[in-house]
Amino acid sequence: MTTKTDFVPALRFAWATSLYDVVIQLFMRENSLRRKTVDVVRQTRPDRILEAGCGTGSLTVALSEALPDIEIVGLDIDPNILKMAGAKSKGKENVTLLQGNLLHMKAVAGLATGKFDTVVSSLVFHHLTTDQKLEAMANIVTVMTSDAKLILVDWGPPVGVIQCIGFWLVRLLDGFSVTRANRDGTVPSLLAQAGFEIEEVKPLHQTGLGTVWLYQGRRRPITAKI
Ligand SMILES: C[S@@+](CC[C@H](N)C(=O)[O-])C[C@H]1O[C@@H](n2cnc3c(N)ncnc32)[C@H](O)[C@@H]1O
Repeated sequence: MTTKTDFVPALRFAWATSLYDVVIQLFMRENSLRRKTVDVVRQTRPDRILEAGCGTGSLTVALSEALPDIEIVGLDIDPNILKMAGAKSKGKENVTLLQGNLLHMKAVAGLATGKFDTVVSSLVFHHLTTDQKLEAMANIVTVMTSDAKLILVDWGPPVGVIQCIGFWLVRLLDGFSVTRANRDGTVPSLLAQAGFEIEEVKPLHQTGLGTVWLYQGRRRPITAKI
């Protein structure tokens, strides 16, 4: 059973989850962020997408509408936020929502090994400590097809003075230790350690709260042992 200490809710406090969509729209230029993320995902020509930490389902629905023939599985640890995602994605036949922890993915029925050729995760990894980030990345590898792509869209080193100040506020809310690797720019080296070849790392989206980066990696092909 999920207890309140298992994860950091989307806006740090469980009572604030219902405000998440409004906050993201007001402070993150959400439509533009979703559009850019969908474009990156579309370029991978996916067959089956896992959205890791789907939250209220805004990206899930955007992906479902942009790629109506592609199966999309949204995974999130928080049963309350999944209810919001369920309401938002109602009637989207290519969407399945699952409750589960990125740190214990083997326990999630429906995430069979080697199923997804694209995994996307938006604004999730800054909720995890550095060790947890590595663990979640390694777990994601286990549900990927060979050569699959991982697209992480998350905070990175702030580009600009306003973004430095804004990101300090985000860190105050979400926690300084979980956001350290994002601020320091060490997410790519964690991806490499977890088994990804880095394909692209760049600032994707400027907001008043900081800079959202794109970290894209390809699962390192499994080489036969001699
Ligand atoms: C800031 S929200 C982002 C939601 C959505 N991806 C978006 O772009 O708006 C972070 C989400 O990650 C989820 N999350 C945090 N830790 C998790 C974990 N260990 N396993 C699965 N989901 C997790 C939270 O429940 C929350 O829904």
